[in-house]
Amino acid sequence: MSKKNRKYPTKDPVCVTCGLPSASGKMHVGHLRTYVPADVFVRFLRKMDVDVTFICGSDTHGTPVLTVAEAEGLTPKQTYTKYHNHYLETFPKLNIFFDNYGTTDDPENHARTIQIVKALKENGHIYPKDLETPYCDHCGRSQPDRFVRGTCPYCGADARGDECDQGCGRYIEPGLILNPRCAVCGNPTRPVTRTHYFMRLSAFESFVDKFLREIDVTKSARNYALGWVKEGLKDWCITRDLDWGVKYPDDESLVLYVWFDAPIGYISSTEQWAKKIGRPKEWEKYWKPGKGRLVHFIGLDIVHHHCIFWPSMLKGSGYNLPDAIAASGMVKIEGHNFSRSRGYIVWIEEEYLEKGLDPDYLRYYMVSSTSQTKDLDFAWASFAEKVNNELVATLGNFFYRGLHFTKKHYGEVPEGTLDRKLKKAIGDTIETVIDGVNENELKKVSDAILGLATVGNEYFQANQPWALVKEDKKKCGEVLYNALSLTKALAVLIDPILPSAAETVWKQLGLESDIHAVQLDEALNPLDFGAKLGKPVPVISKIDEELLTELQETTYARIKAAEAAQKGETKEDEEVTEHDPVKEAISFDEFQRVDLRIGKIVKCERVPKKDRLLKITVDIGVETRTMVTGLGHLYKPEELEGVTALFLVNLEPKKIGGIESHGMILAVEKLDEPGKWVPVKVDGVPPGSKAA
Ligand code: 2FM
Ligand code: ZN
Repeated sequence: MSKKNRKYPTKDPVCVTCGLPSASGKMHVGHLRTYVPADVFVRFLRKMDVDVTFICGSDTHGTPVLTVAEAEGLTPKQTYTKYHNHYLETFPKLNIFFDNYGTTDDPENHARTIQIVKALKENGHIYPKDLETPYCDHCGRSQPDRFVRGTCPYCGADARGDECDQGCGRYIEPGLILNPRCAVCGNPTRPVTRTHYFMRLSAFESFVDKFLREIDVTKSARNYALGWVKEGLKDWCITRDLDWGVKYPDDESLVLYVWFDAPIGYISSTEQWAKKIGRPKEWEKYWKPGKGRLVHFIGLDIVHHHCIFWPSMLKGSGYNLPDAIAASGMVKIEGHNFSRSRGYIVWIEEEYLEKGLDPDYLRYYMVSSTSQTKDLDFAWASFAEKVNNELVATLGNFFYRGLHFTKKHYGEVPEGTLDRKLKKAIGDTIETVIDGVNENELKKVSDAILGLATVGNEYFQANQPWALVKEDKKKCGEVLYNALSLTKALAVLIDPILPSAAETVWKQLGLESDIHAVQLDEALNPLDFGAKLGKPVPVISKIDEELLTELQETTYARIKAAEAAQKGETKEDEEVTEHDPVKEAISFDEFQRVDLRIGKIVKCERVPKKDRLLKITVDIGVETRTMVTGLGHLYKPEELEGVTALFLVNLEPKKIGGIESHGMILAVEKLDEPGKWVPVKVDGVPPGSKAA
């Protein structure tokens, strides 16, 4: 990226927000996919001297909070207070510090929401219309959103009233869900008609289309949202027949839909921040049209709301528009889609912080594992591997060896001049860091910093100070001066990712300033001679085998318990298991390129030394060919011999376990037995028959 194309550093004020967590459950690893990168981004902007305010808060309304309140026997306010306090306490323990963390039930948010409704109405963007919505005679009330389940009108999956949570993930307007049944008692609901209020979203179609093409939004989010625009934007029902939420000004028996007042929480939380700093009008520099830049960090699951509803609300009521929307990929747990009910979840408080794990490790793992827009597969083994092999072996090792050796032999920073090559390496790393921040690619940033630590380790190794100190103490001092100056540079650069470790190293270097306030360029300034060094102690320590096993066992035990509970429940209540979301649509032409045929396995044998692989000889009618399958750990060869199943026969040949495979047997993973794959068997159809 050329310097000219960089957005940051900038003189414009920047407001960074994170999607407001619903105050209806505790923090888990999935949340951190957004909050950690946002916090790291903010800290890097501050290191570029950008005027930035970091805003978040708890989302306290809607059926997410109501359903939990009912389940827990609490009032909605008691419920959200409990979880809001949990978030307030937990974020700082992860070194995530918002400038303000409010709630959407705060008076500022009620007032701002009402002001925005009125502005939209005055501008002709809101109108009343009669609507049929589900009513449960058994429960004696209207059951909107999560209080109703039914069939998704788009993909046919079992879905929540306002969101297809088990299928395509789409937002569902009130009244559109098919075969609705009450989610509380299970009885079918009946439609009742009453007046609701709609936002004229259809009138914002060309605005949203242009907006999405102009702003800085991650590619998958843009394409997803543009897909909606292409289908035509429908007017949006913004009221609900509930008594929990922000009352609708023209009819106080209705409240606003939670997705209307939740994002307004970004504005009201900024207003609270402005009051707190004693400049009550300061929020306007971000939210009133002008130079302020709004950057929203969100998860891919809430793109629709942030790329379509939210900008239209802002535009229609005269506010500033987002400058960037950074949508991060989702988190998988140990190879499986995140799922509360199936136990694929890792709780931050009990399973990370209370185990005594350093928050910086998780921060590093979150930003360095994969590109920000991709899904991240959280696994304890890969977590331990990254901490041990990257943080400890590369960075921690470099910090400790230089500081320890210098303290022992010199006690202070020895005299020296910064090596030209090392200075260039530091300068290049700063440039890559700035590029990575501009591209929202924090993996690029962490890789570059770890790369600089590798340069340091190589420098240390090549100059052998442990030998040099005996031969030429002055020359050795110069080497150590360079090593410590590089340590200082690394501390400055890694500070946004590992704030605790960086702060400790800073003190060990004898530096008294606040490292978090130090600018990136300070990495280029070498140390002062003679500065007294602090006590060197390792700042990063290994995750040992025992702890790793304990962490894994906790997760596996929960998954097993959830499986057992679900088996029991499935039998009694026929509870629906969570499904993977349906993948992006392909065209019929693309589908026609796939050649699926029935084949018969005429021979099956093990691939030597490969437990998971089986070599199968398959009669596909036109010919008999060799394929390799990865079902070896699940089946004995004799169990597959003679099986007639479905095969993909035009998959390009690939060497697997040293054998060229010419196709693939199709198998399904059993929902009730994750990891168990069953071939798609077909009876009574001769080999060679085509499937479509
Ligand atoms: O998806 C959620 O958890 C919502 N509570 C996010 C709200 S983000 C913003 F719009 F407030
Ligand atoms: Zn659906």
